Amino acid sequence: MSRSSVVFVCSACGGETLKWQGQCPHCAEWNSLEQRAAARPTAASSRTPAATARRLDARLADATRRMASGFEELDRVLGGGIVPGSVTLLGGDPGIGKSTLLLQVAAHVATGNEALYASGEESAAQVGLRARRLGVTAEGLEVVTENDLAAILALATERKVALLMVDSIQTVQLPSVAASAGAVTQLRECTAELVRFAKSSGTAVIIVGHVTKEGAIAGPRLLEHLVDTVLYFESEAGSRFRIVRATKNRFGAANELGFFAMTEQGLREVRNPSAIFLARSAEPAAGSIVTVTRDGSRPLLIELQALVDRMRFGAPRRIAQGLDANRVAMLLAVMNRHARVSLQEHDVFVNVVGGIEIGKTAWDLPVVLALASSLKDRPLPTSLVAFGEIGLTGEVRPVAFGEERLREAQKQGFRMALVPRDNAPRKALEGVEVLGVSRVDDALEIAFEAAARSTASSSRR
Ligand code: TYD
Ligand code: MG
Repeated sequence: MSRSSVVFVCSACGGETLKWQGQCPHCAEWNSLEQRAAARPTAASSRTPAATARRLDARLADATRRMASGFEELDRVLGGGIVPGSVTLLGGDPGIGKSTLLLQVAAHVATGNEALYASGEESAAQVGLRARRLGVTAEGLEVVTENDLAAILALATERKVALLMVDSIQTVQLPSVAASAGAVTQLRECTAELVRFAKSSGTAVIIVGHVTKEGAIAGPRLLEHLVDTVLYFESEAGSRFRIVRATKNRFGAANELGFFAMTEQGLREVRNPSAIFLARSAEPAAGSIVTVTRDGSRPLLIELQALVDRMRFGAPRRIAQGLDANRVAMLLAVMNRHARVSLQEHDVFVNVVGGIEIGKTAWDLPVVLALASSLKDRPLPTSLVAFGEIGLTGEVRPVAFGEERLREAQKQGFRMALVPRDNAPRKALEGVEVLGVSRVDDALEIAFEAAARSTASSSRR
């Protein structure tokens, strides 16, 4: 049986085919197939390979011995620290602080273990300057500036490092792969090699990946399925706050968020993220409301803003930033049918303040309140929070972790909460008046009554 000596690899998705085609059968991209030599089974590898099995509990013990990264925020996002033998991909825009974060983590890990920081982007002098700026001096930390991945791995093997960092995957290459650094085949082979190295040596590997214009790490999901954990470093333009989000995690919960701030001395963790997302003016403003989301494992207070404006021409616009626009369109229909608030002749804009994206439906009720507040040009009380899901028949449905959300609002000094009736606690919450509702029209009525009460009491003062 003769096997073909060449394969064709798609430069967009990395998929392989045996025959050249104009269109990739995997991702339907045109003219993306490149010819490559196929890996031939050699005499040695065609013998039955010897595999060794280990008891599952022994492997479990390995995975539970995690290394602390030096940042509690990052450890939580990782699911409790860095797992030996794991491969983590850290993606983010250039200049967001990936190298800074890694150098700080490397320095912390190096106080107890050997860590190797491989930079293909900066010279040793540049890394040294940055380390001095960060006040980083660690005994066990070694820096290598090298583009040849084989050389980096040889060094890591020789030093028996516990943590290897590769900054970035786009700048390293394997000499055995005939493609330039950053090409899709090179990225895929280098990442696969790093995964093999991590699994066989037990070294934890962190790989930096630049984000392409489309927002994915180097090609459509190409590296993401090879690694154990994918972290994205995000920020709102111009803000010094940074969010690390786990979009995939084999060792912890996905969608966990960690908060950081970029300072003169590198990254600092933010322990009370609700406070930064709520840095709003004390004056009540129409269209603004605070809600409690729960991204990851803890509640977070954020401000939602809505603006409705009489439509100028054509079809009304529904624009949502940080949340799902289709869901907003559904809420508009519910408001029209079940609360007699019509926005059919209006352009609608909804925005999550702070550049964060929120995914769950607990923002249904606050969005409806913010839209009505903007339409009526009547501000809601600044001491009010709201959360709750809304159904197509106009009912307000309970959301998960209601008590926890209410306690976070209480901690941040909110005095009034408009929530689904089933989320209202049986025991009174000290300092917080909890208003339970089960219909969207009741919710609007109660919210604006509360607004009238609070303006009356502030004008009396
Ligand atoms: P960097 O870690 O080089 O980003 P990336 O590796 O993601 O491309 O971060 C560069 C930015 O961070 C740069 O604009 C300067 C800023 N910075 C600080 O504000 N404080 C610091 O202590 C350091 C080291 C960098
Ligand atoms: Mg960098």
